Amino acid sequence: MANLFSLADLSIPEVDKILNRAEAFCNGAQSRAAEDKVIASLFFEPSTRTQQSFSMAAYRLGAGVLTFNADSSSMQKGETFYDTVKTFEQIGSDVLIIRHKENEYYKKLGDVHVPILSGGDGTGNHPTQSLLDLMTIRQEFGGFEGLKVCIVGDILHSRVAHTNIEIMKRLGMEVSTSGPEEFREEGYAFTEFSEALATADILMLLRIQHERLEGSMQMSTEAYNRDFGLSLSRTHRMKDRAVIMHPAPFNRGVEIDDDVVESSRSRIFKQIKNGVFVRMAVIERALSE
Ligand code: CP
Repeated sequence: MANLFSLADLSIPEVDKILNRAEAFCNGAQSRAAEDKVIASLFFEPSTRTQQSFSMAAYRLGAGVLTFNADSSSMQKGETFYDTVKTFEQIGSDVLIIRHKENEYYKKLGDVHVPILSGGDGTGNHPTQSLLDLMTIRQEFGGFEGLKVCIVGDILHSRVAHTNIEIMKRLGMEVSTSGPEEFREEGYAFTEFSEALATADILMLLRIQHERLEGSMQMSTEAYNRDFGLSLSRTHRMKDRAVIMHPAPFNRGVEIDDDVVESSRSRIFKQIKNGVFVRMAVIERALSE
């Protein structure tokens, strides 16, 4: 079954195949691969981009979409996560899109027999975000080999960082991390922010994940902006062709200043747009196996 939990489960040719299909959709290819199918969108954690772009992708492929709100569901009467997911399988969903705050939530779902596409698990993986990041990078630079990417911010709690670091290294990119000491993770290369500004081809900024920090952040957001916030004047130190990426949601005035969000180097809104094409490709893949 073509589940998608982690890009580590995919070979490079499989990743390329998804990116090529997403690019075809970006260039106007049409598909009704999900005609008469129903896709259930089960988000147990908040989302705007991932949930809505999966829904948009499903509509474009001809599918119907079931939405779900845990706060108004029978989970409020004690139903478990597994029983909730099993219910969506039993009522006839053809594909399940699931986001959950627990790392590897899918290991609790061994008895579910329809494809699951992960919309993110805790601090673990966010495969479709990473695929849309890769698509955006490939559109910009034509490939991956030798590109320098620095991921800046809350590495420790970021499923986007964890997913990207693994796949970007396999694709031959030079990956490093930067940001405050409290968010660093052992085992990953570290670059001082000032050096990253001057050397990275791709500066990927991350949001501080307050929802996972539970008030334990040592640094104030003002200090974060002073030391690691990307201001327009700091962008002037970047290489000529270097670009700025962010998975969003972003916090204007913390990790990124207002006037950088839509500056000429920013690819943030392009990333969001590419999310629909990547999700069309992974839904089509899930239904074809
Ligand atoms: N990038 C991302 O996952 O955004 P959402 O949380 O809005 O889905």
